[in-house]
Amino acid sequence: MSKYARIVGTGSALPERLVSNAELVAELAARGIETSEDWIVERTGIRQRYLAAPDVGSSVLGARAAREALAAAGVNAADIDLIVVATSTPDFIFPSTACLVQKEIGAHGGAAFDVQAVCSGFVYGLATADAMIRTGMASRALVIGAEVFSRILDWNDRGTCVLFGDGAGAAVLVADDHPGILAARLHADGRHEGILRTPGTVNRGAVCGHPFLTMDGQAVFKLAVSVLDAVARETVEAAGLTLDAVDWLIPHQANVRIIQATGRRLGIAPERVVVTVDRHANTSAASVPLALDLAMRDGRIRPGQHVLLEGVGGGFAWGAALARI
Ligand code: ACO
Repeated sequence: MSKYARIVGTGSALPERLVSNAELVAELAARGIETSEDWIVERTGIRQRYLAAPDVGSSVLGARAAREALAAAGVNAADIDLIVVATSTPDFIFPSTACLVQKEIGAHGGAAFDVQAVCSGFVYGLATADAMIRTGMASRALVIGAEVFSRILDWNDRGTCVLFGDGAGAAVLVADDHPGILAARLHADGRHEGILRTPGTVNRGAVCGHPFLTMDGQAVFKLAVSVLDAVARETVEAAGLTLDAVDWLIPHQANVRIIQATGRRLGIAPERVVVTVDRHANTSAASVPLALDLAMRDGRIRPGQHVLLEGVGGGFAWGAALARI
């Protein structure tokens, strides 16, 4: 049995349609909804987002990101024995998006399932794959965060529709005696389920109730900052390290003010915090792997460095994983 699960390749997929704040503000204004580029940038740091075409679902984006990650890792799809897809916007109720991705990339026969932990989904998926690899249940895994949140937004609610985008990110993990994911910690507190939710239900194929995302923004903000701080410290300590050892912090990309507050509280300098919310907006489970892939590809993250990945979101659920690259 190998001691560690190691990230050996990453990939991304963004939909073709890039929508700037200016374009979104104009589209909303045409329908009588008032917002401004200044409001969006000042309150959130978001400057643009990518939105998927109606026929593009999470499985399409997830499979694209997976192929890119496999190519970067030099691993064949046929050798993948575990696929975990983190998504709150699956193509179907079932089969899982992971099974659809498995079919699409040609990785038949291994385990494949979805995790539903909203914006912390990728970290939940990573922790699950890490545990399965370390216990010998899998040896080459794909962990994917894939979302089309544009489908669950109320485009008449200016308080939420400006915040999100679509996309997918993926990582290939392999069993190795060298580190690897050093520690991961997951948490949830269902008592806060009401502050961020999409409360619709499905009855005989029809969505009933309210199928769009609702949020108490200020409650989410406060809770997110506090749990991201606590779980970062817990995870680094579990790895036997201190925060000084963290070369890169990659927190969930919901809002630049949450990201900055988290970095400040942890004493991690802004230039060591990866920020992509300006270009991707909040892509929920895809935000962390999209940011990881960007920083791997632009050469910021180098072999041997420590990367602290953090997720937080609806549930309320949160977690962190510390990886040596
Ligand atoms: N354009 C212009 N005005 C707006 C918009 C908009 N798009 N949206 C809301 N407003 C108005 C409100 O109506 C309100 O007006 P009022 O004072 O006349 O009533 C005013 O702006 C302030 O609204 P607040 O909700 O109090 O604004 P706040 O400063 O809290 O910013 C925000 C809102 C950005 C959502 C903030 O609460 C936040 O960052 N929360 C964190 C939650 C978050 O980022 N969620 C993303 C998903 S959650 C996750 O991924 C973990």
